[in-house]
Amino acid sequence: FEVNWNAEAAEKGGYEHFMLKEIYEQPKAVRDTISPRLNKDNTAIVLNELKWTKQYVEAFNKVYIIACGTAYHAGLVGKYYIEKLARIPVEIDIASEFRYRDPIIDDHTLTIVISQSGETSDTLAALKESKRLGAKTLAVTNVVGSSIAREADQVMYTWAGPEIAVASTKAYTTQLVTMFILAMYMSSLKGTISPERTHELLTELRHLPDQVGRTLEDVEPIKAFAKNYAYNNDVFYIGRSLDYYVALEGALKLKEISYIHAEAYAAGELKHGTLALIESGVPVIALATQKSVYEKTLSNIKEVKARDAVIIGIAAADDNELEKYVDHVIKVPTTDELLIPLLTVVPLQLLAYYAAITRGCDVDKPRNLAKSVTVE
Ligand code: G6P
Repeated sequence: FEVNWNAEAAEKGGYEHFMLKEIYEQPKAVRDTISPRLNKDNTAIVLNELKWTKQYVEAFNKVYIIACGTAYHAGLVGKYYIEKLARIPVEIDIASEFRYRDPIIDDHTLTIVISQSGETSDTLAALKESKRLGAKTLAVTNVVGSSIAREADQVMYTWAGPEIAVASTKAYTTQLVTMFILAMYMSSLKGTISPERTHELLTELRHLPDQVGRTLEDVEPIKAFAKNYAYNNDVFYIGRSLDYYVALEGALKLKEISYIHAEAYAAGELKHGTLALIESGVPVIALATQKSVYEKTLSNIKEVKARDAVIIGIAAADDNELEKYVDHVIKVPTTDELLIPLLTVVPLQLLAYYAAITRGCDVDKPRNLAKSVTVE
């Protein structure tokens, strides 16, 4: 037994848990996913695995994104990227819902399935159903030769390396970056983005792995928040636009490994019910990185503050406003707001991790959950 234990300890490379190791592997994982696909002067995405033409992309009048769990949350961000950059309408669905709802799909549909393992049974079934209905299919997966990789017409790999912890971290960030790369590729083929904007975004993309690294430099404040709030019964996550999608993923991380009830809300939706649950001392994690909805998010933050919630704000480094309205603030490096989800999610992963540690939970093997769900 001792031999096994030592082998496992060695695999964890000095980290206490696989999850923490994988969180710290994100700068490398993100770099490995970007590097082979970015030309050297940051002016173009090169996707040798796809080799699409303008004509091929223009034939799509709709994109479907289908996934489960964390991969679904990456899909939400992917939908935003494709609509914003490539201007193609995107529908997104949870795989177990998609299968049973008679989706409207034809040969002008591109179906993208996202799956870390490439083995999730509902996602695989949704992929097969999509193919049967005539869609072109693309898999975004982390496992070479997985069932989903083999079934799809085309594959883009996330080069995260093996992910062992049940709670997905580096797979999520590499899925985001892959969806960004794909959206940029589609938009440059379609001509929906200018060369100047392309260069600006791809330069930010080039810097992203180092910036992910910077979010991991000073984790002490996050550890302290996690310790302080680990025994609360409920935690809320709010944000608008891309921040909302990151909020969903942050809440899922906390639920999965610390068993604290967490809910993510589109900040503008709070007043339609959730505000009733906000009372004195309830922690609210508020993401405010998206300029177009910044003022609106601030007013939602004021709404929860008026009910005496404890607010932890997540903001970009150049934001000097948010700290006036929240109890604590965690800052991430400044980048284009399209890419900032890759940075804001990191403190949320760490918050979940340290909350689970404080509560003595088995971080790598949370109760009732499996890394890969191959049953319906
Ligand atoms: C399981 C895991 C989740 C994961 C989901 C989808 O539920 O516990 O962490 O997000 O499956 O997995 P996939 O391998 O398809 O990305």
